[in-house]
Amino acid sequence: MNKRKDYVFVWPIYTRIIHWLIASSFTFAFIFSLYENLLNLHVAVGIIFGLMLVYRIIWGFVGPQYARFSTLKLSLEKLKFYFTEKVQNRYREIPAGHNPASSWFTIIVLVVGSIISITGLLLYGIQEGKGYLGFLNDHYYMYMDSLFNIHKYASYTLLVWAIIHVVGVLVEQFYHKTNMIFAMITGYKKAKGEDSKTGKYKSGLTWTFLIISAMVFFVSVDGRNNPFVVSKYKQHDYKHESFTYYSECGACHKPYPPFMLPASSWERIREGLKNHFGEEISPTMTKGENRISINDQTAIFNYLIRNSADKSTREISVKVMKSLNGARGRKSITKIRYWKDVHSSISNETFKSRKVKDKSNCFACHKNFDKGMLEDIDIEIPK
Ligand code: HEC
Ligand code: HEC
Repeated sequence: MNKRKDYVFVWPIYTRIIHWLIASSFTFAFIFSLYENLLNLHVAVGIIFGLMLVYRIIWGFVGPQYARFSTLKLSLEKLKFYFTEKVQNRYREIPAGHNPASSWFTIIVLVVGSIISITGLLLYGIQEGKGYLGFLNDHYYMYMDSLFNIHKYASYTLLVWAIIHVVGVLVEQFYHKTNMIFAMITGYKKAKGEDSKTGKYKSGLTWTFLIISAMVFFVSVDGRNNPFVVSKYKQHDYKHESFTYYSECGACHKPYPPFMLPASSWERIREGLKNHFGEEISPTMTKGENRISINDQTAIFNYLIRNSADKSTREISVKVMKSLNGARGRKSITKIRYWKDVHSSISNETFKSRKVKDKSNCFACHKNFDKGMLEDIDIEIPK
């Protein structure tokens, strides 16, 4: 006997929780990804998304009747029939559990979602150098762009399918009047079939996943200091690494990390010291900060070239090198394609504002850049 007349209890609470957590974590991850400095939130909800997919896959084998993969209707015949009937018969009777369209959508979410989650985890290690997979950066840095593209296009693909799914549900709700939206809220679907049951150990499984997800979420939101999110790069102390660089060049500005520019750029900057961003720097200048002896210049540029972008696997270095594509480095990173691309959304007024003053004043917006850190969560445009 079913609990409610004309209705079947198809989605027990745990199935509904998985459904809404998958839907909301994906949506939020997508929104957060639009803001570079929300990377930690993006990763936090992304991990929940991934964990829920794993759980959904297990649920597909051990979960209640209507959530099982064995009850999905995946034959193309059935899919065709589903759409033909939809057109011909507005008030058709619908089956309990997944219909052929939502069966296919389940598979799409699991397959595309897994691709998104796996590439996301790899990117966090390989591109950002963060978390437990940070060690992968050394060996696989050359794949960061391809991984990123897969991650991005798979996410767009899933977004498109999610929109199609929502439209389909709305059509069911308002045109066919099957009350489909409420089915995923109350668990009851207006259909024919038997009520679903959940056993005790299944609720235990759900709670385990929910608790792990919540823990991972709070740990990742922190964004900096624990092994899940910590950067493989340590803060630099340029004063100790090269006192000459720190004190001579530091007379006018904070130390730019050497890995920001290739050796050929540092050579150009040395050749161009006579006209360095409007300042004349030479051994014969009378003003203290504009005078740097030839010996000191040699020491400084040797140090910078030893640690330049061509010798680093950091995201900025790899992308600057790729963007130069074998050409000689420019005097300023702001003339390099990659830099222009990532800053294209920032207006000239912002760069000229009182607190920033110049495009080349990276330190104004990238906190800790003078310590060699370039983390997304450190980006903040001063107001
Ligand atoms: C007399 C002042 C002065 C000194 C000394 C000085 N700089 Fe600069 N430098 C500037 C100014 C001004 C800018 C433009 C950015 C700004 O306003 O902060 C700049 C910008 C830079 C940039 C940013 C380039 C880019 O990619 O956009 C680098 C790199 C740089 N300086 C390297 C050096 C090095 C290396 C030394 C030491 C050999 C040095 N600077 C010494 C004044 C100075
Ligand atoms: C006016 C503030 C501002 C200044 C000045 C600035 N940046 Fe940025 N930078 C940003 C913002 C904001 C973003 C994120 C852009 C986005 O995603 O839309 C960013 C992104 C980046 C990224 C990409 C980060 C990533 O992980 O994808 C790099 C690399 C970068 N900046 C380097 C620099 C360097 C080097 C300088 C100095 C030559 C500099 N920036 C100057 C604001 C600034």
